Amino acid sequence: MSFRIQPAAPARPNRCQLFGPGSNTKLFPKMAASAADVINLDLEDSVAPSDKATARRNIIQASHDIDWNTKYLSVRINGLDTPYWYRDIVEILEEGSERIDQIMIPKVGCAADVYAVDALVTAIEAAKGRTKKVSFEVIIESAAGLAHVEEIAASSPRMQAMSLGAADFAASMGMATTGIGGTQENYYMLHDGQKHWSDPWHWAQAAIVAACRTHGLLPVDGPFGDFSDDDGYRAQSLRSATLGMVGKWAIHPKQIALANEVFTPSEAAVAEAREILAAMEKAKSEGAGATVYKGRLVDIASIKQAEVIVRQSEMIAAG
Ligand code: COA
Ligand code: MG
Repeated sequence: MSFRIQPAAPARPNRCQLFGPGSNTKLFPKMAASAADVINLDLEDSVAPSDKATARRNIIQASHDIDWNTKYLSVRINGLDTPYWYRDIVEILEEGSERIDQIMIPKVGCAADVYAVDALVTAIEAAKGRTKKVSFEVIIESAAGLAHVEEIAASSPRMQAMSLGAADFAASMGMATTGIGGTQENYYMLHDGQKHWSDPWHWAQAAIVAACRTHGLLPVDGPFGDFSDDDGYRAQSLRSATLGMVGKWAIHPKQIALANEVFTPSEAAVAEAREILAAMEKAKSEGAGATVYKGRLVDIASIKQAEVIVRQSEMIAAG
């Protein structure tokens, strides 16, 4: 327990983050017209080294020319271990429009990585007189990133969100898998001769959620590579939502509706949450701290759980 109040995460919908390579301008208008809450224009791993410079120009142009409407517009820069990242930031923030909301920093390993980007961004904003302070999202996708997840969450007032990048994370951890998220064939428990599959991403996800909730950030689940597997995507999203994550990436438009469905509290869930709140109001008026709802205990902690669902639903409706 702590006397410090847990800060609220930014009150904006972040159910689906749609990615597209900065080198593929054909996709930009489709991304803008999609039902994703966040758009991530990529300069990193979906862009070949020979295309980096063109991709920057494309993104700058698109930040001026395309109507991104109410989308939260994010640009993923290259990692700090590459020769590209500083020029990504310099060009995007010197020449890109004020429509750009966020810089996404991949492969963050410690708080100093974020500090370095913050210093550069702050200087460019001041030099150019930019009025909007861009926010940061980081990707936790290395052993170091997860080992330092809490200091990274606390690293800058610009920090708004954190995603788990399953593929790079698996590689960095030396995990014996090539799958991008989801169930892994060899990760099972054996009971009475029957296999029961477990979730190898669980620890990383829970650590990210705890760091985010401690510091008022949005915890987000990253990519699910097999975009022909709707059921697999839905199952992964349901687990993430159950653990406290607010959304998931889409690397193909097929995945947008699935993410929006899972990360929007259902009418039934909201109705039940409201009933729990009403039952607790009644209990309180009768001087009780606990009561029975549909045959089960509800108490003062249930109010907080129900409020999470109601608040999320109201915030999405308002957004
Ligand atoms: N955003 C918006 N629209 C997209 C899209 C995206 N990321 N990916 C594909 N589309 C569009 C296609 O242009 C096509 O449109 P059309 O019906 O008007 O022709 C439609 O969706 C169906 O696309 P499909 O043919 O199934 O896929 P594809 O072969 O064109 O592209 C990928 C497949 C994976 C290469 C592409 O989806 C992609 O680049 N995804 C993003 C990858 C990325 O950014 N990775 C970095 C984060 S991990
Ligand atoms: Mg990655």
